Amino acid sequence: MTDLSPLDHVTREVFREGMAHLPGAVNIVTTDGPGGRAGLTASAVCSVTDEPPTLLVCVNRGSSAGGAFLENTSVCVNTVGPRHQDLAMLFGGRTPMQERFDRAAWTTGPSGAPILSESVVSFDCRVSHRHEVGTHTVLFCDVLDVVVATGEPVSVYYARAFHAVSL
Ligand SMILES: Cc1cc2nc3c(=O)[nH]c(=O)nc-3n(C[C@H](O)[C@H](O)[C@H](O)COP(=O)(O)O)c2cc1C
Repeated sequence: MTDLSPLDHVTREVFREGMAHLPGAVNIVTTDGPGGRAGLTASAVCSVTDEPPTLLVCVNRGSSAGGAFLENTSVCVNTVGPRHQDLAMLFGGRTPMQERFDRAAWTTGPSGAPILSESVVSFDCRVSHRHEVGTHTVLFCDVLDVVVATGEPVSVYYARAFHAVSL
């Protein structure tokens, strides 16, 4: 394979500015297990394949939730709408874990990870394997259950702000 390096002008800042123009869903991703209950807001969530149903989630290992995602196998991807915008900011950092979870209602499914009540959609998952890339770990997640709230408006993160999208 040819060794291609980024062009000189592609700094971390240039990459981040580019990513600010790539719209994405806002997800509160949670876990529970031996590593403790934890969660963070993540836009780096993607479908891998529907056979078997698989998602990937990219988690910063240096975040306060990172350790729990490495130790636990349960993961729930909760996609949020305007009603959970403030909650997404709390899970976006600098807030103690207990306080993040105290601000919303949760249930649990087969994996044991917290499922956010009234999310737009929740994917309850078990981690099948992990792959490290730079600061982040990519979690490959087998989907165990899917809960959809039909008609709920969804939030899209674009240009560093939330935008509501309705059907
Ligand atoms: C809209 C948005 C999207 C984010 N996407 C990701 C992501 O995909 N992966 C990630 O590890 N962190 C992501 N973050 C950052 C984490 O939510 C946050 O840095 C994390 O909770 C670390 O903060 P803490 O160490 O104070 O807990 C995102 C934050 C926001 C506000």
